[in-house]
Amino acid sequence: MRTQVGIVGAGPAGLLLSQLLDLHGIETVIVERQSQAHVEGRIRAGLLEPGTVALLEEAGVADRLHREGLVHGGIEIAIEGDRHRIDFVDLTDGNTVTVYGQTEITKDLFAARHRAGADIVSEAGDVAVADIAGPEPKIQYRKDGETHTIECDVIAGCDGFHGICRASIGPEQLTVREQLYPFAWLGILAETPPVSPELIYAHHSRGFALFTMRSTSVSRLYLQCTPDENLDDWPDDRIWEELQLRLGGDAAARLVTGPALDKSVIAMRSFVAEPMQHGRLFLAGDAAHIVPPTGAKGLNLAASDVRLLSRALIDHFEHGRSEGLEGYSAACLRRVWNAQRFSWWMTALLHRFPEAGPFDLRRQRAELDYLVSSRSAMTALAENYVGLPFG
Ligand code: APR
Ligand code: PHB
Repeated sequence: MRTQVGIVGAGPAGLLLSQLLDLHGIETVIVERQSQAHVEGRIRAGLLEPGTVALLEEAGVADRLHREGLVHGGIEIAIEGDRHRIDFVDLTDGNTVTVYGQTEITKDLFAARHRAGADIVSEAGDVAVADIAGPEPKIQYRKDGETHTIECDVIAGCDGFHGICRASIGPEQLTVREQLYPFAWLGILAETPPVSPELIYAHHSRGFALFTMRSTSVSRLYLQCTPDENLDDWPDDRIWEELQLRLGGDAAARLVTGPALDKSVIAMRSFVAEPMQHGRLFLAGDAAHIVPPTGAKGLNLAASDVRLLSRALIDHFEHGRSEGLEGYSAACLRRVWNAQRFSWWMTALLHRFPEAGPFDLRRQRAELDYLVSSRSAMTALAENYVGLPFG
């Protein structure tokens, strides 16, 4: 089998890249380890910057997003129960963010790819890439008891943090920078209406909490917990009690409890592998970088990588120009590092660090008070949250 762009991974990065390239007549084959149902069933974040919405529009997959997505003009920060609004529309010349689950984006992308007759190999075993430094890179996999090889012009490694593409680049060619955090998030999906029309990021001495949503009847809730938290210790009642305490104020009184549909522990890490290219293998999305979820940047960064990679590949195949591909990694990393900085900052600002001493705690409180009382500080948060312009 031969193709122009072999794509490893059918997450949002791989599917969106395939969709954007197809609009320019560039052939792709996607090789995915899991079944489509498994990929569509994963519960992930769901907050889109305007730039991500624009890219999904360009890809022709934004109709349902515009019908069902919730447009938010700001967020709230609760400090020990005291709520303050950060108004994105006012502070960033009219920008908004859109709440629409990654699960739904993945479904829309799969549907669009199948309508166009895309080549998607799912449930592929032993996926590997070979000859990435030379002119004929290959993807190999096993399916139905046979070994298959796809010869490609270029390979896009969109196989997430635990994929094989990044690992196939030798350690001497790749620099990894990583930071772990001494806490995790307990993520809960619940059949209850959101307590407030906008997201609430709650800083509390008992730990951080985030109130977000998937629709007007389904809430998504997160509680700071320990990295080795046992889900059995979190029956529904304890979750609601803890959320109420951390939220505080009138919003706590409005909290409607309901059955938890899903519970999981989400690790917090910052991670960047650079460069995002080796030979003819280009990494995009979680395969190259991870942010802690506090700033909601993971999916948006994956989309901005794909935006750059699709444009570079279109230039390469349509016009024979290679500057875009040569500059791909450096261009991505500028945005990636800024999002790393912002995600780290929001995480440090809002969480309770177990090792924090009395000075750290007062300094953190002073920073929170400054944030919600200074227009400049709120603007800095707002412009990063809605996403800086593509440079
Ligand atoms: N072979 C083939 N596919 C693989 C392999 C492999 N060896 N390993 C992983 N995959 C697949 C996974 O099953 C998954 O479907 O690659 C896909 C990667 O998708 P994501 O993890 O969703 O990563 P990405 O597309 O970069 O999307 C980034 O997802 O994790 C969130 O916060 C992140 O929202 C962001 C978005
Ligand atoms: C979510 O809706 O799941 C979500 C929103 C904002 C975040 C993280 C997760 O910062």
